[in-house]
Amino acid sequence: MNQTWWKESVVYQIYPRSFKDSNGDGIGDLRGIIQKLDYLQALGIDVVWLSPVYKSPNDDNGYDISDYRDIMDEFGTLADWEELLAGMHQRGIRLVMDLVVNHTSDEHPWFIESRKSKDNPYRDYYIWRPPRDGHEPNNWLSHFSGSAWQYDEATGEYFLHLFSKKQADLNWENPGVRAEVYDLMRWWLDKGIDGFRMDVINMISKTPGLPDAPVISPGDRYQYGGKYFLNGPRQLEFLQEMKVNVLSHYDLLTVGETPGVTPQDAIAYTHPETGALSMVFQFEHMHLDADRDESSRRSIKRWRLHDLKAVMTRWQKELENQGWNSIYLTNHDQPRAVSRFGNDDVYRVESAKLLATFTHLLQGTPYVYQGEEIGMTNVAFPSIADYQDIESVNIYWELVREKGMDPGAALALVHAKGRDNARTPMQWDAGSQAGFTTGEPWIKVNPNYPAINVEQALADPNSIFHYYRRLIQLRRQHSIMVYGVYDLILPDHDEIYAFTRTLEDERLLVILNFSSNTPVFSLPAGLDCPGADLLIGNYETDPSDDLHQLRLRPWEARVYRCKS
Ligand code: NOJ
Repeated sequence: MNQTWWKESVVYQIYPRSFKDSNGDGIGDLRGIIQKLDYLQALGIDVVWLSPVYKSPNDDNGYDISDYRDIMDEFGTLADWEELLAGMHQRGIRLVMDLVVNHTSDEHPWFIESRKSKDNPYRDYYIWRPPRDGHEPNNWLSHFSGSAWQYDEATGEYFLHLFSKKQADLNWENPGVRAEVYDLMRWWLDKGIDGFRMDVINMISKTPGLPDAPVISPGDRYQYGGKYFLNGPRQLEFLQEMKVNVLSHYDLLTVGETPGVTPQDAIAYTHPETGALSMVFQFEHMHLDADRDESSRRSIKRWRLHDLKAVMTRWQKELENQGWNSIYLTNHDQPRAVSRFGNDDVYRVESAKLLATFTHLLQGTPYVYQGEEIGMTNVAFPSIADYQDIESVNIYWELVREKGMDPGAALALVHAKGRDNARTPMQWDAGSQAGFTTGEPWIKVNPNYPAINVEQALADPNSIFHYYRRLIQLRRQHSIMVYGVYDLILPDHDEIYAFTRTLEDERLLVILNFSSNTPVFSLPAGLDCPGADLLIGNYETDPSDDLHQLRLRPWEARVYRCKS
């Protein structure tokens, strides 16, 4: 298998608005990140993925860009950004920027021009259509509720916005648009960045004719149109063109955010010869606790370990030698991992460590989302007025006003699934506002910060933070953690998720008790782990433990190295 630095790396995601405020305005900023570079170095991560910092009116916290070549006022200046990049590189940390080019803000100069008249040179930069029978051109639902079309008085046409109406979709069919995107990518790459995370990059090719979406929610006016805009007909062609024009001229980590991809799509996008990207984010495991994939935030159900095993194993095996996985359990759009997949109550520390063991022992590049390394949890604010996220607020009112849902039930969904769970300020210490700001934070801090914070974690040698640090160090020492082949064992066990990693004559045995019970692990027939040596675990262990009869403690994780 090809060896590359981005397979061997651990990526840390920063959501700048919530990371660290340096000037007391309540909003995280670039100088705040600069102040915390030593912290990141102590954790040992190799790469930072920085969520968008470009100029933006912030309808969707920076995912609505009005100038691709400048920094958002609240975050600082380009000079601050240059200093941040230099500070990272001095510490051996690489920087991956967020590339948001499925859409721009409606305040981007291209859109301001585009909406002026039908013959404006920028008209065709966006997707404009005349009304159909006096209504929207098709029945597509926006990701943030309501129609995906917005009527514009000036020219009497609608423009497409798969997200908010302030995020107009770019028309990738137009070669001029693609050339602009390649240009702005080069502009950042030539400043010395190390890659891009590409926002909803598999939505750029829409099916010509923009057909009506099939009705999956009978009775609803708008329907999810993913069938006609996810992995569309020219998707691979566009990515390959981007590769020829830009990516192939640099040594980069590129990760596509690609909702709705199958392993086959992912191989097409990431195959070393025929693909274009290093890896993609797939979402199947993010839907295990929902009734339906396309509206995972509008429903909740208990996820099952069998399903998690099935999904992860399929991705591990199908991409083996064909592509490369990115491994994550949370990010700025998801609930906190420990609250969703672990136990954020009695076994918060144990289960956070177990989940870390899981993500760092699968084959793929692990992503750590800010605060995950100290076991930050979901939050349950008492009122929808406490929530800032456009998606959560829109969903809440859609459910309450249009679907007649009980407000308490709608709030419970926001508590479980809302994106603000991940966006409460980073908890640095037990002082005022968790040490995030000296002012009023743009979103409330999670009230559990006096107990869960970085200062505490650094001081406690048994903390989740130090466990992550050890895992990251181990990855450097044991290439089997990166390149070893994954095989599931005990597929039918209800509580234990166990697997092996194999590289030449070396083997790792990973045993994870995904429960608060005490099940017994037993090596399956035909598998042995001679000279089993504990590489890492989240409890004290006894070297005489018998792997044929091992009672696990709640949320216990163990990784053994076997000698052949
Ligand atoms: C995915 C991003 O991660 C999310 O935060 C954003 O709202 C949408 N794409 C639209 O850019």
